[in-house]
This record gives sequence, C-alpha cells and structure tokens, in this order.
Amino acid sequence: MLKAFKGRDVLSIKELDRQQIELIFRVTKKLEPIAIGRSQRQILKNSILATLFFQASTRTRLSFESAMHRLGGAVLGFANAGVSRAGDVYGETIDDTARMIQFYADAVAMRHPTVGLPRKLAESCNVPVINAGDGYGESAEHPTQALLDLFTIFKHRGKIDDTHVILWGDMNQRTMQSLALGLAKFERVKISAHCPDSLRFPPGTEEELRRSGVELNYVSFEKVAAKADVIYIIGPKKTRAELPTEPEFKLNRARLAQAKRSLMILHPLPRLDELAPDVDATTYSKYFEQPLHGVAVRMALLTLVLGKASSF
Ligand code: CP
Repeated sequence: MLKAFKGRDVLSIKELDRQQIELIFRVTKKLEPIAIGRSQRQILKNSILATLFFQASTRTRLSFESAMHRLGGAVLGFANAGVSRAGDVYGETIDDTARMIQFYADAVAMRHPTVGLPRKLAESCNVPVINAGDGYGESAEHPTQALLDLFTIFKHRGKIDDTHVILWGDMNQRTMQSLALGLAKFERVKISAHCPDSLRFPPGTEEELRRSGVELNYVSFEKVAAKADVIYIIGPKKTRAELPTEPEFKLNRARLAQAKRSLMILHPLPRLDELAPDVDATTYSKYFEQPLHGVAVRMALLTLVLGKASSF
C-alpha cells in the first residue's frame, strides 16, 4: 500500500494524484468503525507519532492523537511550542530538531506558521512527515484537512466529479488552497469563489488551478446560490477583536433560500462570525461531521505512511 504514495511524506495535496486520494478514501472507509469507537484494532501497536505543533490547533492535533490511540499506537509532543528548543529563545534549527525527532518517533505530524517548514523538517528526517498545516498565503497548505473535506463530499455525494463548489471567504487560507487543489484532481469540478478582491487566490495557486483545467470563476454568491452542491466557507485571518466581517461575506440561514435541498455546507473550523449559528440546525450543515472524518482520514494516512495499511 505504501508504494502507492510517491514518497513517504504527506506535505502537499499537490503531490497526491486522484488514485492515491481514492486509496486513502478506501482505507478511511475500512477504519471508520474504529474512529467512532465501535471496534478496536491494534494496527499501530508499537508505533509512536510525534506531534510538533508550533501553532495552535484543536481539531488537527487531537484527531491525530485520537487516531493513534484508537489504533493502539502512542503519541508524544510538547505542551506548546514555547517549551521546545525550536520554539523558545534558543530557536533551535528545524534541521537539528529533525535529527532528534527521528530517534523518538516513527512519524511526525507538524504544524508551523511559516510556509514550507514541514517540508524542511522532512528533508532532514528519516521518518515520515505529515504536514498538519503550514502558513497563510502563497503555497500555504493543509493537506490532511483537504483530504477530510474531500472525503466528506465523497461520502455524501458518492463522487467528487461533477461537483459545483462555492468557496466562500478568504482564498489565502491554507484550508481553502488545499481543498481547491484537491478538487482540481477530479473531473468537471466547478469552483465559484465568493470573496473580496483582496482575498482572491495567491497568484501561484491560481495559476496551478487554471493549469489543472478546473473551472474557476470569481462570482457573487447570489448568482450561483441555486446551482451549488457544496459551500466551503472560512473567513479572513482575523481575531475576534477585529470583527465584524462585512455583511456580504457572512452566511446565514436567510441567504440559503435558493439553495438545492442536497446542498452541503462545510467549514474547517474554528469559525468566527462568517457562518451564523442559525445554519447549524439546517440539513445543509456538515461541519460538525467533518472532525469525525478527520480522525478516520488521519488513521488512514498514518497506516499508509507507516506501511501498515495492508495488515488489515
Ligand atoms: N481545521 C483545523 O485545522 O482546525 P484546528 O486549527 O483546530 O486544528
């Protein structure tokens, strides 16, 4: 199974092709009963994952940890970046950190505020490295989030081909870029981006999307509201103190009057005010289901990069 990956690392959704994504989905489906605690398997017994998080996380870190524990593996990591030598005043280099980590763990999940740091770690590390989110803006990526987002679409629609997705909010967010690049691996996908002009895709990502042949248009939501299969929303990189979001880029129940009955609304979370709580109780809302898929998808990735996916 491992040889289905071009390399042992998962650093960018760009490096996975459609067949590999579909392989991850197949393994994910097999592991779903374990993710929801209905069955137990010691598939990763004796394996250790190091979680190197230099930036805050709730879902990604906890779901990686849950995935390891539920598969019988173990996890180590520092409580926060500030108590590691790479994150405190010493500023230990990523190269030196990589050389240490490979003695302590069999795989690494790394999040960093700077684009490219998980790749840099992987260059000096003898164990698989999974990018758990790096940076913001050009080349920022969150490939495991994109995989769980794609899996959620696949699970509900039975396919990703022929899907019309509205990307709503900030195209510079790493989750947005990874999902768009992941969607571009499939056939006849349409992307309608509803965003302020200042928050369009970074040039490199836009070029990559255009090159892939995916149909990408910048449009106002109301023009495509009745046609979309999926809305994927995340607001600009702001703190709560910097709110509110402009009304045009806030989604609430009233704006969904024209939506298809089968519309799915996804959000990687956490949300601010771009997605009103009155959407939560609608049939469209799938964003509290995504974190569960996050456990199963990360289980699949861990078993694949650790060479254990053929053992069950
Ligand atoms: N979706 C996501 O990456 O969430 P966290 O920042 O909580 O990990």
